Amino acid sequence: MKNKVALVTGGNAGIGKSIVLEFASRGAKVLFCGRREEEGKKVEEEVAKSGGIAKFFPCDVSNDSQVKDFVLKAESEFGGLDYAVNNAAVGGLSTDLHLYPEKVWDKVLAVDLKGTWLCMKYEIELLLKRGAGSIVNISSIAGLVGADWKVAPYTAAKHGVVGLTKSAALEYAEKRIRVNAVCPGFIRTEMLEGLFHSSPDPKDAEKKITRLHPVNRLSEPEEVAKAAVWLCSDEASFVTGVALPVDGGYTAK
Ligand SMILES: NC(=O)c1ccc[n+]([C@@H]2O[C@H](COP(=O)([O-])OP(=O)(O)OC[C@H]3O[C@@H](n4cnc5c(N)ncnc54)[C@H](OP(=O)(O)O)[C@@H]3O)[C@@H](O)[C@H]2O)c1
Repeated sequence: MKNKVALVTGGNAGIGKSIVLEFASRGAKVLFCGRREEEGKKVEEEVAKSGGIAKFFPCDVSNDSQVKDFVLKAESEFGGLDYAVNNAAVGGLSTDLHLYPEKVWDKVLAVDLKGTWLCMKYEIELLLKRGAGSIVNISSIAGLVGADWKVAPYTAAKHGVVGLTKSAALEYAEKRIRVNAVCPGFIRTEMLEGLFHSSPDPKDAEKKITRLHPVNRLSEPEEVAKAAVWLCSDEASFVTGVALPVDGGYTAK
């Protein structure tokens, strides 16, 4: 990926951070965002120490003008865009659907679904200029099947991300822009720790969730990062419109 430019949203933590590191290790120049600047600067330093190039820009993906400014940095800082991974998301609450607060519903949909669309809008403009490129949206197993851990708005948003991905794949196929989604099972990140700690017995919750995966373990963020970066790469040149589970067999049942 030498001389290629990659963009990652939510790259200052969790799976997104692993995606930034994976792109940089393959030689791409990376721009990434998140809201927490301090975390972003730490990732920049980590990449620089290993000889790579990555630049952090603060951006809230649910804010149109911030997204526009961020995505256009690919052009002003690095001369254009080749790959984008739309990863930023929030989990919301684990609450019965009929009791779910409207404000939190709005926030989850604004970040996870509308945020993905806003990023794609500006990314596609740059990819059309380049004449080719690849987008990967991070969905979830909750984008493929129902979730029984009381996160209906998150599930609705992540199913929406899969629909958005497939529609965009068809719309831009002849323009040489591939669009795919990755649907992770449970991955060890802050988001998952938050889910465990919202249950009365976090250790028991971890055991139960682990058992849902036929491989009987949780995944590390790097395993998702490798799949996302592979989908962006030329190694996946005939792959578009796919929602790829990276889930230890969760959705095979
Ligand atoms: N962990 C899992 O088990 C799991 C399973 C399936 C799918 N996923 C998906 O994988 C992706 C990454 O999840 P994760 O587990 O790595 O989550 P995480 O550890 O909570 O990280 C979320 C990332 O998104 C950023 N973010 C959140 N809201 C944002 C906003 N409004 N604007 C810009 N950035 C924002 C966060 O940075 P700031 O807080 O600084 O903004 C952070 O970098 C998400 O799409 C998630 O739905 C995760």
